[in-house]
Amino acid sequence: MDEIQKEIKELREKIRYHNYRYYVLDDPEISDAEYDRLFRRLLELEKAHPEWVTPDSPTQRVGAEPQRAFSQVRHRQPMLSLENGFSDQDIRDFEIRIRRFLGGETGFTYTVEPKMDGLAVELVYEEGHLVAASTRGDGIVGEDVTANVKTIMSVPLVLTPNPGAPPVPELLEVRGEVYMEIEAFHELNRKNLSRNLPPFANPRNAAAGSLRQLDPRVTAKRPLNMFCYGIGELRGIRFQTHLELMAALQQWGLRVNRPYLRECKDIEEVIDYCHELERVRSQFPFEIDGAVIKINQLALQARLGEKSRTPRWALAYKFKPTQETTRIRKIVVQVGRTGALTPVAQLDPVEVGGVTVRRATLHNQEEIQKKDIREGDTVIVQRAGDVIPEVVKVIASKRTGKERPFRMPTHCPVCGAALEKTPGEVVLRCPNLACPAQVRASLRHFVSKGAMDIEGLGEKTVNQLIQRRKVKEPADLYQLTMDDLLELDGFARKSAENLLRAIRKSKVTTLARFIYALGIRHVGEHIARRLAEVFGSLDRLMEASEEDLIAVNEIGPHIAESVSSYFEDEGNRRHVERLLRAGIRFEDVAARGADLSGKTFVLTGTLKSMTRSEAKERILERGGRVASSVSRNTDYLVAGESPGSKLQRARELGIPLLNEKAFLRLLEGKNG
Ligand code: IVH
Repeated sequence: MDEIQKEIKELREKIRYHNYRYYVLDDPEISDAEYDRLFRRLLELEKAHPEWVTPDSPTQRVGAEPQRAFSQVRHRQPMLSLENGFSDQDIRDFEIRIRRFLGGETGFTYTVEPKMDGLAVELVYEEGHLVAASTRGDGIVGEDVTANVKTIMSVPLVLTPNPGAPPVPELLEVRGEVYMEIEAFHELNRKNLSRNLPPFANPRNAAAGSLRQLDPRVTAKRPLNMFCYGIGELRGIRFQTHLELMAALQQWGLRVNRPYLRECKDIEEVIDYCHELERVRSQFPFEIDGAVIKINQLALQARLGEKSRTPRWALAYKFKPTQETTRIRKIVVQVGRTGALTPVAQLDPVEVGGVTVRRATLHNQEEIQKKDIREGDTVIVQRAGDVIPEVVKVIASKRTGKERPFRMPTHCPVCGAALEKTPGEVVLRCPNLACPAQVRASLRHFVSKGAMDIEGLGEKTVNQLIQRRKVKEPADLYQLTMDDLLELDGFARKSAENLLRAIRKSKVTTLARFIYALGIRHVGEHIARRLAEVFGSLDRLMEASEEDLIAVNEIGPHIAESVSSYFEDEGNRRHVERLLRAGIRFEDVAARGADLSGKTFVLTGTLKSMTRSEAKERILERGGRVASSVSRNTDYLVAGESPGSKLQRARELGIPLLNEKAFLRLLEGKNG
């Protein structure tokens, strides 16, 4: 073979391999720059030798011309849909039906995997080459979207024969879900809005709209992705189980959701895992709307067969909807820590995804106008994971004519100051730094767990301190006396002493916590830690210019501007000074031992070097939490001598165990 032809071949193989590492395994082996070099070299050689360009060269993902219409393709085997289940009982009934159908058969297991919320696509590989891709359509006939699917980087154009893997089959029809990640969907909508194009309602519509573009160059710009979950026809090889099949697909270069594909021995395990997936659903970067339960043994799948449109061997367990319909009673305005005004809808209470929702944020006036939200409207509210519930849209057909349009006030509802708007922003602000609402919110932030962490200073106490004019700003907390506290409702000597001690204790803190506690706009806990790490001291951070800040990884122009203008402000500088004068000082994390914030510990058995309450104190000092019983939320079980039943429970749940030595090392910050 010609030298150049050989180089082309090797480059293609390398690029395919690195695509696989990057897009399928999410575990790249080379830098982007190196990858670009390989890719550019291949382009160069192919340009000089167009006769050697093949349709499955990695350079050919976007080559096709726009089409006039999609042609139709008949699936060799129908693409079925799934029967839905909504409760534990539905899952148990599924098992009963299976057992009945299979008669005394006992040797089977289940698999459970996330149900992706996108659109079903079939890929056809002949002798390892992608020859066609089609949508599900009506299950019998779909649309030919080959040119578009080729632009999805995680879809291999050629399957790789892999040592140790089964040989690539002569014919393979793979099925999977094409989807768009939630972040990418928001980004696309932002872009669309800025060009006056209509936004997509959800990631699934965005994925479908992107895949059904007649011009593949448009699809190529949309960040689509694919997970494979099954097959149609397969010639030349047999598998025993769904798990083996999925492992082989991955080895051939296809992307499967392996970390979340789990084998379950019995139906109770299936139910547990379905619930687990439902609990963590909001942590996935993409939307999942349920879990798919399948019989693992392929021979039994074949025996079970299908009903008219759904297989008997699978069930989709659908999660509780994260959207519900309810009515807006009233719209109120809240003043936040930075003076920003947020309109909030008070709702007829409604259950969304298992939680009662009474309020939803309306973001700002623009948002209200855009969605035309009025008091009295019937609306769809959405709650996704831990985020604040929001109003998705108004159901206009339910209007009675009695709904009242809402306008943001011109003056602060709490202190009466005239509101201001920063040019280029949509948010209205109360400019009065002494506004009681702002003071309250910034005090509550200052004392919160991730900030100065003053235990026992809850909402009620903060409100009383403000009302009685004992505290006007955070630094005043450090001047409080026993007499001040005894004047408050619900305080006796003991509780006052405890609070004073907690306030005193908070004076020794970390630089990161302090930066976060200041409540600078756009500076959350993570950014505060970065700033502390990079600048090392408060003085250096206060002197940093916008350019110095931008130079820090993860800090963009927004944050940089916000931090530098915060420290340029005379009032803020005085505020910081007063806090330092009150005696706040910083210990670096290493001197203080580990930062255990966010970690939950459970203690069992006796420790030699300290009592149970000393151990507890040490964990709390470092920001950790101590719970009395083991649950899935436990991060560590500290097991001393003669541990109790908690040890057994922790083992069952796979919670990391620490013996005394490991615990001491962790406290010192020597572990991880
Ligand atoms: S298995 C015989 N597994 O859900 C049908 N489907 O409601 C085999 N879906 O059309 C489907 N994630 O588009 C399967 N992990 C998964 C899935 C999944 C999403 C979609 C699929 C199907 C629809 C049925």
